[in-house]
Amino acid sequence: MVGLSTIAVLMLAIDLHDVTKTYRGGVQALRGVSLAVQAGEIFGLLGPNGAGKSTLVKIIMTVVRPTSLRGTVLGQPVGTQSVLSRIGYLPEHHRFPQYLTGRQVIDFFGALGKVPRAVRRPRTEELLELVGMREWGNRRVTTYSKGMQQRIGIAAALINDPELVVLDEPTDGVDPVGRREIRDMLLRLRSQGRTVLVNSHLLSEVEMLADRVAIINQGTTLAQGTIEELTQESHRYEIEALHAPDMVVTAVGPVVGLVSSTDPTLRTFAIPTRDAAIIQPAIDALRAAGATVTRVERARETLEDLFVRSVIDERGRAMPGAQRPSAAPLAAPPTAPLAPPRTPPEVRS
Ligand SMILES: Nc1ncnc2c1ncn2[C@@H]1O[C@H](COP(=O)(O)OP(=O)(O)O)[C@@H](O)[C@H]1O
Ligand SMILES: [Mg+2]
Repeated sequence: MVGLSTIAVLMLAIDLHDVTKTYRGGVQALRGVSLAVQAGEIFGLLGPNGAGKSTLVKIIMTVVRPTSLRGTVLGQPVGTQSVLSRIGYLPEHHRFPQYLTGRQVIDFFGALGKVPRAVRRPRTEELLELVGMREWGNRRVTTYSKGMQQRIGIAAALINDPELVVLDEPTDGVDPVGRREIRDMLLRLRSQGRTVLVNSHLLSEVEMLADRVAIINQGTTLAQGTIEELTQESHRYEIEALHAPDMVVTAVGPVVGLVSSTDPTLRTFAIPTRDAAIIQPAIDALRAAGATVTRVERARETLEDLFVRSVIDERGRAMPGAQRPSAAPLAAPPTAPLAPPRTPPEVRS
């Protein structure tokens, strides 16, 4: 068992290098993207609309022919027939035949994938259960909400019992409750030992469940790694206090103080550390100066912050001579009610 799981961790389910795609008409959808997805993980392929996410998964599914590509999927060259039968795929903007019920859709995709009828029947029932659609299985898909259609789509993607599940925007058009249910479903797929590649333009959503992510924009990879790796520079403690004088926290080192936009007497101090011991003198100093500490919290950059920073960074790089904005992680803490600092943090002794 130990040996097997070790092998699973070391194996890459998807190992692609320098994928490029120029569509007829000249759109460069991918300009050299590399992707390493480990077996058994949930991998989030993130980026705004038009970034190239769907093009990349369509290349993996051989729906779109790459302009150039190196690497393997499930250990074989892309497009190997026997590999495709080990992958489940939920395409973006999918449409089911309107006259079918949910149950028939799942069965239909099983038949297309040459899953034997005797296997299809019981598995369809299991999958309806998995996606929470058993009660609705005999209704026509035309009567379904978007969320129900996505669930049936996910079930259909699983009918061939795939090792690798590729889901293109599975929560597209789904309400918040449905989105959470889909997230739980993806976690269940991982606990069954499957590898999940999920495309999404919703960074915060995938942040909640992905083991690793790649953020792509305009056909290039901005960042790839675990969320921990990508955001480690930005870990900090935030101390929010009422009536805090400027000088009190400077004792602990580099600190950014931000004034709340709604209450000018409320300030948040960000201290770049993960060590709770380091912030204690700051809390003491604040209290000694008569401030009321209202919140102490560990915080880090979100993927959305990281994305925005990477895009700005790249623009800086793209413009020769342009002044590159600093990547200082404390410049924009994600906490909502904060305004940018009106003045630089004052250091008075
Ligand atoms: N069949 C196509 N022909 C020409 N351009 C396309 C085609 N499909 C996608 N594109 C373009 O390629 C770029 C990437 O699209 P896509 O891969 O769908 O991005 P995403 O899934 O991240 O939203 C976009 O500029 C899009 O307009
Ligand atoms: Mg897409």
